[in-house]
Amino acid sequence: MKKGKKLYEGKAKIIYSTNNKSLAIQYFKDDATAFNNQKKSKIDGKGILNNRISEHILENLNQIGIKTHLVKRLNMREQVIKLAEIIPIEFIVRNIASGSITKRLGIEDGTVLKNPLIEYCLKNDELGDPLIAEEHILTFGWATKKEIEKIKKIILRINDFMIGMFRGIGIKLVDFKLEFGRIKSSNKKDIILADEISPDTCRLWDALTEKKLDKDRFRKSLGGLIPAYTEVAKRLGILHEQSNVNSSNVTNLSAFKKKIKK
Ligand code: TMP
Ligand code: ASP
Repeated sequence: MKKGKKLYEGKAKIIYSTNNKSLAIQYFKDDATAFNNQKKSKIDGKGILNNRISEHILENLNQIGIKTHLVKRLNMREQVIKLAEIIPIEFIVRNIASGSITKRLGIEDGTVLKNPLIEYCLKNDELGDPLIAEEHILTFGWATKKEIEKIKKIILRINDFMIGMFRGIGIKLVDFKLEFGRIKSSNKKDIILADEISPDTCRLWDALTEKKLDKDRFRKSLGGLIPAYTEVAKRLGILHEQSNVNSSNVTNLSAFKKKIKK
């Protein structure tokens, strides 16, 4: 497969065309942003970990019949993906209150929600990805009622699967963000999960200590982002448990990169 021109550059990833019209290459950058790009940094190795963690989760979702854009991982920073027409909505799923909902509604951080809460945000950086209602989606034609109903069902399956997967490795899945796209399959359009699922797009707390193992380490300037993401990767079985690499020391990155299973 030949890598073509840059189609799109986002805050954490770049999408390149390929010689196959329906496929693209997704490149994971080390850039970290928060609060709609107001806080920015480069965190050496983050893209490698997110590529690997996202591959693992999406592969598992594929295996339980949830269609995703992932075709295969190419190398440490790149994946082949199906090129989808992205629905311009960020679907936020919350199991425990944290982040924006605590400020917006005054809900105490850590409150366990009695059922998963799905929120919608319009994908528009200039407007700061505003929270919207399902009625906005229908009124402005961003998705149809049928698509939203289908997406909600997929979201709840993904949430159940991920809660269990993370619980099994001693991690609470607090919340996460999903994006979906349309692809042509035979003569109709199908909905697939697009974008990544990684500690950049989830809140993950250690089940015993509630230590943050996600991008809140960057958002809140807590430090230790690479060790936290490495911990998630290790518990998922992606990195060797016996790794003698001290990943808290970023100068060891080249050794750490070698430890990532091909
Ligand atoms: P929030 O509390 O800031 O609304 O975020 C909820 C979840 O969605 C959290 O896991 C982070 C994730 N998220 C993204 O992945 N990208 C975004 O642009 C935003 C706003 C949140
Ligand atoms: N990804 C968003 C940004 O870059 C928001 C976030 O994840 O906090 O600002």
